[in-house]
Amino acid sequence: MKKIRVGLLGLGQIGGGVFRLLAKKASLLKRETGVDFEVVKILERNVSRRLSVSAPLRLLTQDPDSILKDPSIDVIIELTGGVRLTEKWYYEAFRNGKDIITANKALLAEKGDKLFQAARKYKRQIFFEASVGGGIPVIKSLREGLLANQIQSVSGIINGTSNYILTQMSQNQMDFGEALKLAQDKGFAEADPTFDIQGIDAAHKLAILIRLAFRIPVTFSKLKVRGINSISQIDIEYAERFGYVIKLIAQAKRSGKSVLARVEPLFLKKDHILAKVDGSFNAILFDGDEVGDCLLYGKGAGSEPTASAVVSDLCDWAKGLSSQFPEVKKSQPWENKEWSSSRYYLRFSALDQPGILAQIGRSLGKEKVSIADVIQLESKAGNAVPLIMVTHDCLEKNVDRAIQSIKKLSCVRGKPQKIRIED
Ligand code: HSE
Repeated sequence: MKKIRVGLLGLGQIGGGVFRLLAKKASLLKRETGVDFEVVKILERNVSRRLSVSAPLRLLTQDPDSILKDPSIDVIIELTGGVRLTEKWYYEAFRNGKDIITANKALLAEKGDKLFQAARKYKRQIFFEASVGGGIPVIKSLREGLLANQIQSVSGIINGTSNYILTQMSQNQMDFGEALKLAQDKGFAEADPTFDIQGIDAAHKLAILIRLAFRIPVTFSKLKVRGINSISQIDIEYAERFGYVIKLIAQAKRSGKSVLARVEPLFLKKDHILAKVDGSFNAILFDGDEVGDCLLYGKGAGSEPTASAVVSDLCDWAKGLSSQFPEVKKSQPWENKEWSSSRYYLRFSALDQPGILAQIGRSLGKEKVSIADVIQLESKAGNAVPLIMVTHDCLEKNVDRAIQSIKKLSCVRGKPQKIRIED
């Protein structure tokens, strides 16, 4: 049986998962692909990681070139997660005739243009199923299963850590820090969890989805991104009272000739299909002009689901399948700005004094923001109290201008909260 010699870069959560899965499913993989995969070298500097995976010491190296330039290695799996240094490894691998399988969304979102161009130039391939949605076959679905469609919109929950935190806050009244710690212990979070909670990881994945769904070479830095770090228990509670749940949603949609995209926490109606996606689960909803709505749901984080996607790419590679998708259109316009008119949830912290509500109302009114609902919680002598509002449909730029002037009122304390309501 033909032997495929694999070079593995990184033996962390995902690298360890891939190493274990290749051993565990060796006979199934042989049967399915007709080849025998053998990991022959692993780049890993941290010996304790090797111990947690029980990879033989002789496989470990600290020198990436000993993998990238080794002519006996057939294919490379890159699971280190870095950007600057890692990018150089790709060019070296291509120059040495090697294809790469990766889960590195940050790298593809930031350097995708250059990397895909280089891959074309050297007639090499990058397989990246594991970069979006963990174990869910999102990339393959877009590239193959939905090929006959013009995608109208993509919206999804694509960061398991944020979704896990929001679910714990909502179902178990956990505080933010406690829920984040649990997500980290379970291996969902990025090495730097600010990537998860600030929406950066979701935006990396959205940039990749936009490239495939709309053929637009958008880089991560151009996306408008907001995470869940400002969401507090009171927002979760009031969302619930109004009949919504808060979810971190990554969205991109066609609007005339351009595409609008952003990552932000949203109020979703409780019966919205994405509102039911809880814990570390991810879901991606495509609207294709032929297929209509198409939902992909599954485990979007964690070592086993992600390893499942990496190994499936490895099998595609071994079968000689292509990971290529058509060239992106440089000329296609895309925009970051104004979403269509929406309702907004607003929360201010204000002193409980006569005339305060009128002052805030005036600022909103001046910007043509009309209030649909308002709740003021009871005050405790002299303290600021939460003032919660829901607006009628209005333009975001108007709400933002109103918030700027409300922030300046002497009765207002702290940072106002604004969350768009997706009706
Ligand atoms: N930190 C990521 C998440 C892992 O929580 O979704 C998968 O990309």
